[in-house]
Amino acid sequence: MIILDGKKVASKRKKELTAKISKYHNKGLRKPKLVVIMVGNDHASEVYVSHKIKVANEVGIYSELLRFDKDIKKEELYNKINELNNDQNIDGILLQLPLPIDFIEEDYLQAITPSKDVDGFHYINQGKMLQGYDTVYPCTPLGIINLLEEYNINVKNKDITLIGTSNIVGKPLGMMLLNNQATITMCNKNTKNIKDHTINADIIISATGKQFIITKDMIKKDAVIIDVGIIRDPVTNKLVGDVDFESVKLKSSYITPVPGGVGPMTVITLMENTFMLYEKHINKSK
Ligand code: GUN
Repeated sequence: MIILDGKKVASKRKKELTAKISKYHNKGLRKPKLVVIMVGNDHASEVYVSHKIKVANEVGIYSELLRFDKDIKKEELYNKINELNNDQNIDGILLQLPLPIDFIEEDYLQAITPSKDVDGFHYINQGKMLQGYDTVYPCTPLGIINLLEEYNINVKNKDITLIGTSNIVGKPLGMMLLNNQATITMCNKNTKNIKDHTINADIIISATGKQFIITKDMIKKDAVIIDVGIIRDPVTNKLVGDVDFESVKLKSSYITPVPGGVGPMTVITLMENTFMLYEKHINKSK
């Protein structure tokens, strides 16, 4: 069994990205810029966002965190997004989710101009993704695909079962893997028996946020296991995933740990996406 070490891979990619960014900087060009918008003070988001800002600064991306109170007027948030859309020095805009309960997330995500949509959540970018065109791909799905590639795990012709169909992870990842010639099964909340769909899968990707829903009896020997879940165990207070790691690892060929698997890949992919948008903006303005 091999641990898919997202932390190590992300750290390698971080060095590569830092070198690429400094080449532009050495030529006298401006730094890439990422703006993160946070509304309210969701505790998990606070942790994720501070990490994103830290890594951005480490790779040479200029980052700005815009915080708004949960009572911000909706119009004010729209206007702010519009202002950022029109600022030539900004490459990526990220609206951290979840928004407070009375905000319709979709409305604000779609207000971000597609060329700065660093999360790949805009309908235009998602439509391109669906049809297999080059575009901005959502960070967690792309990070998972890059992690598999780094370990030479080919998805072509593989039977892959995804558990969880969120707009952020499951749905886009399913489409991206399909475009990479894999055969995909997508399980959702109403799936009658998840085990029926995992037991023969070559690769299982779980993104539900439900602790230990993937157990050893549900997987075939030598399956590849990707755990997108991140949950704080109420008893031990440690971070755990969807997968019962200690038992499942014994039967798998490759497995991601929690923490240190998918999480670091998401963050480095956000930086890579910001850089990709930056390159497009810089080349356009030449
Ligand atoms: N909240 C949890 N994951 C994500 C993500 O990938 N992007 C954004 N914008 N918010 C999130």
